[in-house]
Amino acid sequence: MEQDIRQILIETDELQKRIKELGQEITRDYKGKDLVVICVLKGAVMFMSDLCKNIDLPLSIDFMAVSSYGSSTQSSGVVRILKDLDSSIEDKDVLIVEDIIDTGLTLSYLVENLKSRGPKSVKLCTLLNKPERRKTDVKVDYIGFTIPDEFVVGYGLDFNEKYRNLPYICVLKEEVYK
Ligand code: PRP
Ligand code: MN
Ligand code: MG
Repeated sequence: MEQDIRQILIETDELQKRIKELGQEITRDYKGKDLVVICVLKGAVMFMSDLCKNIDLPLSIDFMAVSSYGSSTQSSGVVRILKDLDSSIEDKDVLIVEDIIDTGLTLSYLVENLKSRGPKSVKLCTLLNKPERRKTDVKVDYIGFTIPDEFVVGYGLDFNEKYRNLPYICVLKEEVYK
């Protein structure tokens, strides 16, 4: 895999340091609340796992799978629910955890969908934010890193389902995905 990488954007230790800070911030904000962390499969799985280890509160974890990209590097704008939550979020304080917000189409759909289920609150935490690519306005409550408009993989993020297991965030060589 290393031969496909053009540049490492965020190293492993930098990622972990920032995730620890986010976990501490969330711990302070959700003290005494009934927190449900929702991991958006599959991209957010690594981030959710490391983030939750840094939240020092009782919480539950649930998973939702939505897809807007398919196998392309471009967002189609079509959001499909592939797997719904296992449990009700009624009266819960919901924190949606994402790996990246790009156009915002996936998340704006998801936030509206979850808000219609009667939660006490819905907030959004993303590891990466790419504001240059936004097509719809989404309010993001916790952001790990703001990054430039480049196609990134690693730490959960894929290209054609590969590279999710890299422990850092990197940019692929153009010939790999062109
Ligand atoms: C990617 C990423 C976010 C979403 C962001 O998921 O993980 O969920 O796209 O794009 P947007 O802001 O333009 O909507 P993808 O659909 O590739 O599924 P995956 O998480 O299983 O890789
Ligand atoms: Mn995703
Ligand atoms: Mg993907």
